[in-house]
Amino acid sequence: MKAAPISRRRFLDAAMRAGAATVIGARGVAAIAQDISASGPLIVHSARPQDLETPVQLLTSWITSNELFYIRSHFYTPAIREDTWSLRVDGEVAAPLTLSFDMLMRMPSKTMPVTLECAGNGRGYYDPPVAGVQWQKGAVGTARWTGVPLADLLRMARIKPTAKFLWLDGGDTPLGRAPDFIRSLPIQKALHGDVLLAYAMNGERLAPAHGFPLRLVVPGWEGAYSVKWLTHIAASDRDHPGAFVSTSYRVPRYPVLPGALVEVPDTVPIRGLVVKSIITAPIDGATLARGRTLTIAGFAWSGENDIRTVDVSIDGGRSWGAARLGRDHAPYTWRQFLFPWTPDEPGSRVLLARATDTRGRRQPLAADWNPGGYAWDVVDRVRVEVQTA
Ligand code: MTE
Repeated sequence: MKAAPISRRRFLDAAMRAGAATVIGARGVAAIAQDISASGPLIVHSARPQDLETPVQLLTSWITSNELFYIRSHFYTPAIREDTWSLRVDGEVAAPLTLSFDMLMRMPSKTMPVTLECAGNGRGYYDPPVAGVQWQKGAVGTARWTGVPLADLLRMARIKPTAKFLWLDGGDTPLGRAPDFIRSLPIQKALHGDVLLAYAMNGERLAPAHGFPLRLVVPGWEGAYSVKWLTHIAASDRDHPGAFVSTSYRVPRYPVLPGALVEVPDTVPIRGLVVKSIITAPIDGATLARGRTLTIAGFAWSGENDIRTVDVSIDGGRSWGAARLGRDHAPYTWRQFLFPWTPDEPGSRVLLARATDTRGRRQPLAADWNPGGYAWDVVDRVRVEVQTA
């Protein structure tokens, strides 16, 4: 499958819809047109570049459909043609490689369900507020990813023992004076056979916004490691010095006062996702009928760990009961939880969900504020109104 060619007519239509005033260069033209594809039911935080969130009430199944999957892109979606695309592997390797898409497709592949979550999911709840996309709960989703294990490629390139990090670069171009989006993956994780160079998502070729033609999927780690539109992997003996490694996607080493200034040396990179749950039904502000049974439902995940229990409270945390966990589960994926409830008294109620993982990590009741607004993991809550039927 080739990336759809973008006609001048289609571009102009798209540019008019977006109110695009000036466009410089052919690459910019195609990139803008790619970004304006319909957002459908997603919440638009930014149309260009695309930052689209899934409304939580639409997260109803273990696998998230491609149309509903959140999108987080720092820059415009690049228009990449698969027949001219290639992936370069060099640096601390004995046999540098340049692979065409066809060559990759001929390598043994595997398919794995993985939950992807943006490190900034939940940023909108931090107090004091933190600059950045104000994600609520829906910068998360689970897809079946198909691709070639990164470890196989690294073996082909004869990775040297001196390689400690992989520097990962995609085909997106920085906007204005922004730095390039280059991420750095520690070699131990890179060599784990579950890290995929993915070309398909839920059985379909990757959509442009999700990284066509090839992206990394780093299971269990925050979403920014899963570099889209991958074009270059450089093995290095050190961490990448760029801003997307040295200043972004980092949290303080120690808890800090809300609003505190934190110097970079006092921060560490975020890696594995923390234990977390979200209530997807009923939605915040819902009106419920007294005496009518409903199911409090949602998802819980914990990066590289599995979920052991999800407890639900229907009285603002005074009492808790164990939810039933959904049948579908796999390493690196979220687990659905279900808790039947018949509201018996009219009035306002706060429903809570609190997950515990197999390592014994449990969601906190209050957030550890951090200046990047990352890793929001607080016990989830929705307020509902019970009315006499
Ligand atoms: N890769 C590139 N090249 N550029 C980006 O802006 N965003 C990252 C990651 N890969 C990004 C990227 C972030 S922050 C996240 S959370 C995931 O892609 C989101 O993947 P999705 O848009 O397919 O959901």
